[in-house]
Amino acid sequence: MELTTLNTISYIWLALAIIVHVTMFYVTAPFGRHTSDKWGISINNKLGWVIMEFPSLAIMIYFLFTGTHSFHSYVWILFSLWIIHYLNRTFIYPVRIRATPKKMPLFIVLNAIIFNVINAGLNGYYLGEFASEEDYNLEWLTSKTFIFGIFLFAIGMWINLKSDSILIHLRKPGESGYKIPKGFLFEYVSSPNLFGEIIQWSGFAVMAWNLPALTFMVWTFANLVPRAKNHHDWYKKNFTDYPKERKVVFPFIY
Ligand SMILES: NC(=O)c1ccc[n+]([C@@H]2O[C@H](COP(=O)([O-])OP(=O)(O)OC[C@H]3O[C@@H](n4cnc5c(N)ncnc54)[C@H](OP(=O)(O)O)[C@@H]3O)[C@@H](O)[C@H]2O)c1
Repeated sequence: MELTTLNTISYIWLALAIIVHVTMFYVTAPFGRHTSDKWGISINNKLGWVIMEFPSLAIMIYFLFTGTHSFHSYVWILFSLWIIHYLNRTFIYPVRIRATPKKMPLFIVLNAIIFNVINAGLNGYYLGEFASEEDYNLEWLTSKTFIFGIFLFAIGMWINLKSDSILIHLRKPGESGYKIPKGFLFEYVSSPNLFGEIIQWSGFAVMAWNLPALTFMVWTFANLVPRAKNHHDWYKKNFTDYPKERKVVFPFIY
């Protein structure tokens, strides 16, 4: 594939993110607390997470080992950060979440597979075939862009992991209900885990400084801001004592 083709696909994919972003404020993605049997066949929730996240992990590993440029520059660092995140999301996160009778519609799994194949495909292909020593060399590794980007990535990942852990531990083994989360960034927003993930992939885009990484940052924002709003509205509807000062996803802002 030529770089111009990859760029064209990225621009079309970016435009689609904006449409999906607006739509998701009106149509709640039916998984987790918002799951519903109106969306057809459903599968085990934990299995759903493994199946839908695995393509992103597999595609990046494939391009890391087959890409022309993967080991001729420091681009392997970007591959590794992506792979570490998706190792957790594919295999560790589903094991850690509490087993509940909740199921995940196959519709969500299929949509997420498309999302992951395109995002990992664009990023993996670009990093493996178009990122050269001129882009990701020692100078890049000591640049302000790289240092700021990796700092954002690490902070975002830490916020995401810590918030997910707090949520997972709200339930004792065998419980399946919901409680108001307290402490850490939950004092400021309803979904610090989603806030952390947005910061994390923004950091990745700053570090990588290429179109596919920007596209993935925009998609993460497009998906997670409406999901956080859906969570926030759900809390307010289901808990009369839900803290009024708590924002949706960005502390003090929204
Ligand atoms: N990159 C992307 O576009 C993308 C898209 C979606 C998700 N993600 C990531 O995937 C992870 C999960 O996302 P999510 O929206 O499904 O998270 P979530 O709704 O906050 O749920 C996280 C886990 O905690 C449980 N939980 C949440 N709130 C709870 C409460 N108040 N009381 C008791 N248990 C509670 C959930 O159980 P239930 O499942 O039973 O509700 C689930 O097991 C996050 O880290 C997110 O960043 C990324």
